Amino acid sequence: MNENTGSRVVQETIALTENKRISEGYFRMRAQCGTHYANAAAGQFVTLRLLDQKDPLLRRPFSIHQVTIGPNGTPEIEILYRVVGGFTSKLSRQPAGSRIDLLGPLGHGFTVAAHTRPAAVVAGGIGVAPLVFLVWQLNRAGMNPDLITVFLGGQSKNDILCRDRFEQMGVRTKTATEDGSLGFHGLVTAPLETWLKTADPAMIYACGPHGMLTAVGKIARTANIACELSIETLMACGLGVCMGCAVKTHDNSEGYQHVCKHGPVFDAAAIA
Ligand SMILES: Cc1cc2nc3c(=O)[nH]c(=O)nc-3n(C[C@H](O)[C@H](O)[C@H](O)COP(=O)(O)OP(=O)(O)OC[C@H]3O[C@@H](n4cnc5c(N)ncnc54)[C@H](O)[C@@H]3O)c2cc1C
Ligand code: FES
Repeated sequence: MNENTGSRVVQETIALTENKRISEGYFRMRAQCGTHYANAAAGQFVTLRLLDQKDPLLRRPFSIHQVTIGPNGTPEIEILYRVVGGFTSKLSRQPAGSRIDLLGPLGHGFTVAAHTRPAAVVAGGIGVAPLVFLVWQLNRAGMNPDLITVFLGGQSKNDILCRDRFEQMGVRTKTATEDGSLGFHGLVTAPLETWLKTADPAMIYACGPHGMLTAVGKIARTANIACELSIETLMACGLGVCMGCAVKTHDNSEGYQHVCKHGPVFDAAAIA
């Protein structure tokens, strides 16, 4: 049972229906999954294991990118991933039909509400993975898509992902690349700060590299705007057992919380 959501956590074997390269080094996989994913929250994650993986304990965490319900009522889960090492490179070579082990949904997701003032959704590179599902859930909760602006940042245009998906949902996108190959030339926080001069937002949501999250958290704090950050740490168990993912926080007496259990989404004000 997931203590945050009260939903079931299930380990199951799924068969890939698709595993497709969407940009240099980035892949999107899709598979039918258990019906409990119909209640998954954006920002929650799963852990995956390849069936021929030697160490059965070392599962790898990935955000839920999207959950759609097929015509027969069976949910399909999508994972968007970047190839960075052994596991992700092996995963990228699994053809449709391959079976993998899925455990989830895990962790604590974003606060979804029908905000009546604007919301900024800020993605750095592969940090966009949980944010497609977030925007979809904000829309489903009744938030006007005109009020949502998605800021997509990356090193170069190859790292700007899912722009079409956001635009299909009717939300505005602004891009920034560090090499200037697409959109604003520089960090994604620059167009965010420009937008903040006139937007008066209810909330900033963000997921991306540590430096970007620190900067977004600081911007939100200075402007006194509610902000939620999805953070990444190295994880071993993913279940709150091994203590491998502890981060320093301000909001509990022990000073530390587990990203896999209390996060990965935290109130920006709680993170040290
Ligand atoms: C809650 C959570 C959600 C995640 N969601 C996604 C997602 O949706 N898509 C995606 O592509 N990746 C995601 N990640 C990161 C993903 O788990 C790692 O990229 C993956 O485990 C790498 O495995 P590997 O064997 O391919 O690489 P490894 O050989 O294990 O690592 C390769 C390099 O990546 C670094 N690395 C590995 N894991 C992490 C991590 N968690 N954070 C920072 N650096 C890391 C290592 O230090 C090393 O330098 C998420 C991580 C967490 C904690
Ligand atoms: S990864 Fe083991 S406690 Fe979080």
